Amino acid sequence: MKVAVLGAAGGIGQALSLLLKTQLPAGSDLALYDVAPVVPGVAVDLSHIPTDVTVAGFGADNLAEALTGADIVLIPAGVPRKPGMDRSDLFNINAGIVKNLIEACADNCPTACIGIITNPVNTTVAIAAETLKAKGVYDKNKLFGVTTLDVIRSETFIAELKGKSTSEIHVPVIGGHSGTTILPLLSQVEGVSFTDEEVAALTPRIQNAGTEVVEAKAGGGSATLSMGQAAARFCLSLVDAMQGKDVVEYTYVQVDGSEDAAFFAHPVRLGKNGVEEILPYGELSAFEKKAKEDMLEGLRGDIQLGVDFVKG
Ligand code: 2OP
Repeated sequence: MKVAVLGAAGGIGQALSLLLKTQLPAGSDLALYDVAPVVPGVAVDLSHIPTDVTVAGFGADNLAEALTGADIVLIPAGVPRKPGMDRSDLFNINAGIVKNLIEACADNCPTACIGIITNPVNTTVAIAAETLKAKGVYDKNKLFGVTTLDVIRSETFIAELKGKSTSEIHVPVIGGHSGTTILPLLSQVEGVSFTDEEVAALTPRIQNAGTEVVEAKAGGGSATLSMGQAAARFCLSLVDAMQGKDVVEYTYVQVDGSEDAAFFAHPVRLGKNGVEEILPYGELSAFEKKAKEDMLEGLRGDIQLGVDFVKG
C-alpha cells in the first residue's frame, strides 16, 4: 500500500503522517510531498520511528515521483482559517492549489483513491471531480471529502455530555463540512437520548467546533491534530477496506440521483475500489429534517462554485 500525503509539512500533514507512519500495515510506503523546504526533514524525522513503513520526502519539483504508484492520496495542502473567517474565505487560495494537485494525480496515479481535506471541502471536492473529468480519469467511487472530524468531534462531545466512553458512542454525520451543512443525526445515536434543549445546543456546538479551534489558536491556524487523527482514521479504514475488511465510514461523496445535493456525506461501505455502496442515512427527526432543508441551498451553491471554477 502506498499512501501519498500532499501538504505533508503543514500542521495537519505532519500529524497525519506521524499517525500513518505508526499505524499503516507493515510493508506500506508513505510519500510526503510539500512545497515547504522542510519536507525532506519531516521525512527523515519520521523515518527514525521503528515501524515497517518506509517514508520518503518529495519537494516542489518531485510531485510526480511522490504520486507514482500511490493507492491512496490524502490532500491537506493549502492555507487554514484565521479568526473571523469562514471556510469559504479560503476558496481563492485553496481552489487553485487543489486543482493543480489533482491534475498531477490524474497524470501520475489516475486510479488512486483521493481524500480531500483542504477547505472549503464542500467546494474543493467538486473542483477535484471536475478536474479529474477534464483529464478523462474521474471515478466517482474514488473521490472523498474527509468529514471524519465532524464524526469524532460528535463522539467526543456526546461521550462527555452523557458520561460514556467514546468507544460506546457512534454518531452519524451527514451533509457537508462547513457550518450548518454539517448535520449530526443525534436522533440515531444508539444508547443515549437527548432532550430538545440538548439537541438545540449540541448541534451548533458540533457545527462550530472548527471555529472553536480557530478562535482558541488566535491566528495560529485551525484544527491540525484532531484533523490529523480524523484523516488517519479515514485512511486506515480505506486501507482495511482495500484489504478485504467490511468497513463503513461517513464521508462526502458524489451521490447520483440525490434529492439533497450532488455531493453529500453519507454512510459509505468501502471496498477494494473505494466506494462499494452508498448507504441511506435513515429516518431524520423533525429537527434534522428542517436543518437539512435549511442548509441544502447553501451546500448546492458551494458545489456549483467548484464546478464553475474548473469549467470557467
Ligand atoms: C475543521 O473542521 C480544519 O475544517 C477543519 O476544523
